[in-house]
Amino acid sequence: MQETAKLIIDGKEYLLPVIEGTEGDKAIDIRSLRQNTGYITFDPGFGNTGTCRSAITYMDGEKGILRYRGIPIEQLAEHSTFVETAFLLITGQLPTREELTRTSVHLNDFSPLHENMKAFYQNYPPKAHPMGILSAMVNAMRSYYPELTDIEEEMNKTYLRLISKIRTMAAMAYRISLGERVVYPRPDLCYCSNFLNMMFDKVVVPYKIDPDLVRALNVFWILHADHEQNCSTTAVRVVGSGKVNIYATISAGISALWGPLHGGANQAVVNMLEEIQKNGMTIEDCIAKAKDRENPFKLMGFGHRVYKTYDPRAKIMKKMCDIVLSKIKRNDPLLNIAQKLEEVALNDSFFVEKHLYPNVDFYSGIMMRALGIPTNMFTVMFAIGRLPGWIAQWKEDVTDPETKIARPRQVYTGNFQRDYIPMKQRG
Ligand code: ACO
Repeated sequence: MQETAKLIIDGKEYLLPVIEGTEGDKAIDIRSLRQNTGYITFDPGFGNTGTCRSAITYMDGEKGILRYRGIPIEQLAEHSTFVETAFLLITGQLPTREELTRTSVHLNDFSPLHENMKAFYQNYPPKAHPMGILSAMVNAMRSYYPELTDIEEEMNKTYLRLISKIRTMAAMAYRISLGERVVYPRPDLCYCSNFLNMMFDKVVVPYKIDPDLVRALNVFWILHADHEQNCSTTAVRVVGSGKVNIYATISAGISALWGPLHGGANQAVVNMLEEIQKNGMTIEDCIAKAKDRENPFKLMGFGHRVYKTYDPRAKIMKKMCDIVLSKIKRNDPLLNIAQKLEEVALNDSFFVEKHLYPNVDFYSGIMMRALGIPTNMFTVMFAIGRLPGWIAQWKEDVTDPETKIARPRQVYTGNFQRDYIPMKQRG
């Protein structure tokens, strides 16, 4: 029998159907609510609102579970590569050997940028944030690659074009910002090695590819590849629901990711740790500041809308961070501050009671510093990683018969009707 929820308004009963997901999540289907009752629901930040059915990512914030297409994040981080995980997210299955080879060939074919796109960078002021540049360039791809169809095989190429070019664009933005020569992608290198080479290769000192650092980058991008209906993914679904082209949609996702409460948190964590170091602030002062409700300061890299226990990605990232730091034999003082901060916060009743644990960003910034990635590129790194998730979610959305243009309601709190006052009477 179909489970229902009973709603009583002014003594009148309404039965609302209950939907159940494969892992037992339950949702009250309120699609007929306004039509039948005249009421809407109120849920700022959508914390209690399901906007779609999705078969891509499962997370349980109370238990600290994250799975892509059913596969635990821990297994993917240990055995998979970023490209294989991207294939899994977008198609729903792990690739066969032949499919993976074909994917790599396409990624190589699509990796160079249209030469005219290089002019884009030259016209930005030198201190322009790379997220703004990336978002604009991805949007501009619609003009350079206008051939978009509904044919699945062609769209699969569009997805790979995006995944391949975003990496070239990011590395190129970095090189040009330094006034250095652009390094082009090499077909003999895998996705992650290619990126590191494009970022750091020098004529005098050629970049030496280290398999441990390449592995670390693979894991970093796997951990960021999808996270169900977060802020930027919701932006992608909302913008995509208006049937805008995929490049503009992904560009909106990049913009949404930029904020310090979302993808910008990794940069904010390092900025915060640097401030603590520079100002000689004690860990106790910092914790007290974060707890002070009058003070807008928050402990960056702590807390999560969904995880109310340790973020499973943070555990993996912490381990990777240790491996990278020991590999490059660097003792990062910021890591020491981060470790002390974590220890004190995890034992402080404020953080314990509010279930504020370190999230993935807490350690990812330190690991990226160790890889040599400059701070203002951190969020770009996140965007490259999140791209397969955005594509998978967009694809699911546009092919879902239940999808409608996103158009929430509001509770109006403004003036009652009033008359226009001509200027001469306003004084
Ligand atoms: N430091 C101090 N206090 C915090 C923190 C923090 N990092 N995070 C939440 N709180 C407090 C809030 O002030 C609030 O206190 P109150 O109950 O007294 O009002 C309580 O904990 C609940 O927090 P909310 O803001 O309601 O939680 P929400 O789910 O809306 O926000 C968010 C989650 C945005 C991630 C928040 O924890 C935060 O700002 N963290 C720091 C930024 C960060 O690390 N962002 C990365 C998120 S993960 C990602 O996008 C990859």
